[in-house]
Amino acid sequence: MTAPLLEATGLGKSYGTLVALKPSDLRLNRGEVRALIGSNGAGKSTLIKCLTGAVTPSGGSVLLEGKPLPLGQPGAIIRSGVSCIYQHSNLAPMMSVMDNISMGRQPTRFGFVDRKTQRTQVQDLLARYGIDLDPDALVGTLPTVKQKEVEIAKALAQDAKVLLMDEPTGWLAVSDVRRLHETVRLLAAKGVGIIYISHMLDEIFAVCDSLTILRDGEVVTERAVDRISRTEVVAAMVGERLARESLAAADSGRKATGSGEVRLSVRGLGRRGVFRDISFDLHAGEILCITGLIGSKRTEMIHALFGSAPHDAGEVLLNGKRLVPRSPAWGMANGIGLVPEDRQHEGLMLGMPIRDNLVMTTLRRFHRFGVLRPRGIDRSVSSLIAALNVQPPRPAQLVGRLSGGNQQKVLIGKWLARDPSVLILDEPTVGVDVGAKAEIYALLRAARDRGMAVLVVSSDLEEVTTLADRIGVMNRGRLLSLRPAAGITRPELVAEIGADA
Ligand SMILES: Nc1ncnc2c1ncn2[C@@H]1O[C@H](COP(=O)(O)OP(=O)(O)OP(=O)(O)O)[C@@H](O)[C@H]1O
Ligand SMILES: [Mg+2]
Repeated sequence: MTAPLLEATGLGKSYGTLVALKPSDLRLNRGEVRALIGSNGAGKSTLIKCLTGAVTPSGGSVLLEGKPLPLGQPGAIIRSGVSCIYQHSNLAPMMSVMDNISMGRQPTRFGFVDRKTQRTQVQDLLARYGIDLDPDALVGTLPTVKQKEVEIAKALAQDAKVLLMDEPTGWLAVSDVRRLHETVRLLAAKGVGIIYISHMLDEIFAVCDSLTILRDGEVVTERAVDRISRTEVVAAMVGERLARESLAAADSGRKATGSGEVRLSVRGLGRRGVFRDISFDLHAGEILCITGLIGSKRTEMIHALFGSAPHDAGEVLLNGKRLVPRSPAWGMANGIGLVPEDRQHEGLMLGMPIRDNLVMTTLRRFHRFGVLRPRGIDRSVSSLIAALNVQPPRPAQLVGRLSGGNQQKVLIGKWLARDPSVLILDEPTVGVDVGAKAEIYALLRAARDRGMAVLVVSSDLEEVTTLADRIGVMNRGRLLSLRPAAGITRPELVAEIGADA
């Protein structure tokens, strides 16, 4: 038997009394794509951070090709051949593909960067791994999936033998996910070992050879993917009982279309060169999901609705009254809430406790005669934390210390707490595990049943077909279709989304 490419033994990490990762073993062979999966807070990112050096493990050791990896030293770890592709790109957008790939290692001649050699080296590298990129393109102008390929090429230029990918497809569209999978398989065929974190079981079964399941900071299952079923995977992640519950929740019935009065009416909304002629009604008591490829301008359109981005044509009526959205404050004052896609920058205060984040937009409700009522706040915060199953369920915990999926739950909770009459959510469950998704869907359905008008933008077709009462498809800045969700299948949606308009 040949020695593994990477071998971690007893690797663990504690934060004070919290054990994020119990002493764990992990093996990775050359050319193997290993999925790392588990519920939110299971310890996946912690394990990856121990391997990148971002976090110094509390114990254990790691061998790369039989040699000890310099734990806790990110620079030295990259030089030994372990690189990480992050969800948010770490590239220089104003620089070319070529300069990004060879950043910090450009070949020099007489003290100057030798552009010719640099170009040849980069082109050789791209050809060797079958990556299709224009060396002269500015990185900032490339679509997200291409930027991921630049990051991968950059890692390969640093002689990566092991690539770590922490939810790399979080914000990619379906067709782009497939592209990235092809690249991953190509790298594996060249002998690179890959550890791949994802919450999408479709992805795991499409691209991975083997999987490691973490639960509560502990490895509970290791298996080749062709020797385990989806049901077994879900059960191992959340435990048998929860698995049954979350499936039952996903099955609950749809609402008849347009059951309530028109809350929001969008008429011919447009912004030159971005989107045009968008018209639809959003009813009280319905969930309308708008899907489409990244770049179909869904996000731009909902920001225009909310008032956080401009429009130059058409109008928006709220409860029949014409309104000119001018600012987010306008939206909030009028009972429209927006859960943005980018939780790190727009949605949350990472340095503040869960409690403060949850009540940030609701404070007015807890004032009485100008005095804050702390008990009302505490009760409401505790019930939200319980409903969303935020882990750890401690109101004083800093949001920046929560796992990615738990941060997303807090963001959604913050807006549900305000109980707006119209709630718009942009990619609400990116990074959220299967169990928590079902919890979020249940909360959105409950809000709908109370009469809230809910508008969801999502690239996750499983989410769209599970959650929506009506489905709209956007393509290149236009609303292509809008119809009841009952009976629409995923393959139909795929065909429509990719269709050239
Ligand atoms: N800096 C920190 N301080 C304290 N606790 C932390 C810190 N970073 C992570 N944790 C805790 O460690 C545990 C594991 O978190 P981790 O980020 O590894 O989860 P994950 O499996 O990546 O989850 P997700 O799917 O939500 O991204 C969680 O309970 C989290 O709250
Ligand atoms: Mg994580």
